Amino acid sequence: MDSLSTGRVARTLQHLFTEAEQADRPLMAQFVDAAHPEQLIADTIAHHVAEERRDLRGFYRGYADNFLNVAPEYGRFLYQCARARKATRIVEFGTSMGVSTIHLAAALRDMGGGQLIGTELEPGKAARARANLEAAGLADLVEIRVGDASETLADVGGEVDLVLLDGAFSLYLPVLKLLEPHLKTGTPILAENAFDHDNEYLAYVRDPANGYLSQPIPISEGRGNEFSVFTR
Ligand SMILES: C[S@@+](CC[C@H](N)C(=O)[O-])C[C@H]1O[C@@H](n2cnc3c(N)ncnc32)[C@H](O)[C@@H]1O
Repeated sequence: MDSLSTGRVARTLQHLFTEAEQADRPLMAQFVDAAHPEQLIADTIAHHVAEERRDLRGFYRGYADNFLNVAPEYGRFLYQCARARKATRIVEFGTSMGVSTIHLAAALRDMGGGQLIGTELEPGKAARARANLEAAGLADLVEIRVGDASETLADVGGEVDLVLLDGAFSLYLPVLKLLEPHLKTGTPILAENAFDHDNEYLAYVRDPANGYLSQPIPISEGRGNEFSVFTR
């Protein structure tokens, strides 16, 4: 039995997915109704990157009540990756309300423990994520660092078995480079919203000279999910 399917973790996730659907419905409706969704996504990414570079904190404050969470199937994939990797130290960039965090921490719990370091720019979201982790019975495994990942992830305290990148798009490459000295051979790096539009992160991980094997994966299709493995 795994804790995703039963007990406090399953109940908390079920509740959070319902809450998230309600909170993010207006935001997501524009994509569902779009005549040319791919063009809308490209335009949205370009806009996000420009706004993040102009005012990172101000931009994400505008999403303080949005979950922007991973889909259930992607959450299960995160759990599976952590189990396959026998991860004991996981780093997550972009915690939001803790939906992805709960999936990853559940994998740690089911393997006997470990440590997850997450980071979130918005203090209110970090507080809600902590409360959600408490509800799921996983809070003892997770440290959520409030602030900008470029600073909060400067010291992750040792080798990292798995990385999830799910924060500001424009920081994926700088954050990966920050973590690179701590990656082990075979560490998977999962990036959400890594779309192919003028993306320096994808160019880096898809160039074998940089020591990664990387490709998009069709889980949660259309969400720009890139799966990379550190091979150095
Ligand atoms: C897509 S959401 C994360 C969703 C989360 N992984 C989940 O599945 O529930 C992105 C989050 O990253 C946070 N964020 C953006 N830039 C950040 C930064 N530089 N450092 C830390 N967190 C950041 C945002 O405030 C936002 O809550």
